[in-house]
Amino acid sequence: MTTLLALDRVRKAYGSLVVAQDVSLAVAEGEALGIIGPNGAGKTTLFALITGAVAADAGRITLDGADITRMPAQRRCVAGLCRSHQVPQPFEKLTVFENLLVAACFGRGAREADIREGCAEILERTGLLGKANRLGGSLTLLDRKRLEMARALATAPRLLLLDEIAGGLTEGECAELVETVRAVHRSGITLVWIEHIVHALLAVVGRLAVLNFGRLIAEGEPRAVMDSAEVRDIYLGSPV
Ligand SMILES: Nc1ncnc2c1ncn2[C@@H]1O[C@H](COP(=O)(O)OP(=O)(O)OP(=O)(O)O)[C@@H](O)[C@H]1O
Ligand SMILES: [Mg+2]
Repeated sequence: MTTLLALDRVRKAYGSLVVAQDVSLAVAEGEALGIIGPNGAGKTTLFALITGAVAADAGRITLDGADITRMPAQRRCVAGLCRSHQVPQPFEKLTVFENLLVAACFGRGAREADIREGCAEILERTGLLGKANRLGGSLTLLDRKRLEMARALATAPRLLLLDEIAGGLTEGECAELVETVRAVHRSGITLVWIEHIVHALLAVVGRLAVLNFGRLIAEGEPRAVMDSAEVRDIYLGSPV
């Protein structure tokens, strides 16, 4: 399998708090990788390091073997890396459709005239077509989450990074979102998905990685990882 993204001993600290401790991780082209870990483990920070919102203190990040460690965020997006935000960040005063146009123009380098149809198709796939003319700021939580994914898709990512896209949704809404994520992956987009709702995650991913205090403590086949003693300790507490 071809490696699409690789992190090699990536490190990041905020003062004395180390949020990425020499993290090494490879993502193969076409795979779906899940990431779990307790609150504050450094999961979102890992996405910020990968997409360039936060600069690594040390280590190396490569995309297709090319070093992107110091590449600005916008160029990484054009190169095919795009994330959704745990707390949705729509352009509130733009319509849903305009949110996608901005993403396609600046995150992909496309011309508006060439991408209108593609954006409409993404809205259809993500269940937002009926709300294309609504303002981003007027959407419900479910629709804001859908917009996060739709806007990321509008940048035509090779690797889509989803940060807790299912958190805060009802069971039914969550099931719907899982179907959409599965379809996105099937369409050929490589996926890394951070999610606390493990059953949703396991419905899609083929590999699971676990972060704890900025350290990658386990990775592999999802069931085996969930059953490992260290992961059980983190989630259930050590036996007394
Ligand atoms: N800009 C920052 N400055 C200082 N500390 C930060 C900053 N961003 C994050 N942190 C801290 O780094 C740690 C990791 O945060 P991060 O958001 O990556 O965790 P997470 O695993 O995504 O958690 P959650 O499951 O709650 O989303 C936390 O203790 C957080 O408070
Ligand atoms: Mg987070």
